[in-house]
Amino acid sequence: MRPIRIAVLTVSDRSSRGLREDLSGPAIQEMAVSFGWQVASTAVVPDEIVAIQEVLVNWADTGKFDIIFTTGGTGFAPRDVTPEATLGVIERPTPGISEALRANSLRITAHAILSRAVSGIRNNTLIINFPGSPRACRENLEYLAPVLPHAVDLMRDYPAAESGHLTAAPQE
Ligand code: MTE
Repeated sequence: MRPIRIAVLTVSDRSSRGLREDLSGPAIQEMAVSFGWQVASTAVVPDEIVAIQEVLVNWADTGKFDIIFTTGGTGFAPRDVTPEATLGVIERPTPGISEALRANSLRITAHAILSRAVSGIRNNTLIINFPGSPRACRENLEYLAPVLPHAVDLMRDYPAAESGHLTAAPQE
């Protein structure tokens, strides 16, 4: 079984200019490693649709990653454009993921209403927006992590994935 391979894209004007340390990307990486996943790429870009899409498309189209997490740029500030960038490159939306993340986060903070995060699949690569704070990233990933291995199995089209478990189907 191939391990889950992820990439993490931090979207932040200030971090991309070196004016603020990126703590959110590393927070996702640290948790991913603790789950036994491989963090295969990371990048930091400013809050610009073209810059965000360039990385998402490059990463997804290599087929090297199962999941791409973005962090930041999902709020109401004029430069928060991560959802628009993501919607412009995904082929199939996965609203259940973003709905569930918001619903779960609402139990923690009413400010979760302010996240416009989206998610979807491009080239069998799942792209998931997280909010910008390290805390929000941890809360979201902790909640989502248990279902992601099955999501990855389905995208890889493993026969056993359809039955919801990973053991081989009984032979006729
Ligand atoms: N979700 C969780 N789980 N925890 C949080 O602390 N912060 C919220 C929200 N979602 C938060 C959260 C806040 S304050 C905002 S403004 C939005 O995410 C958008 O964050 P972003 O603009 O940094 O992407």
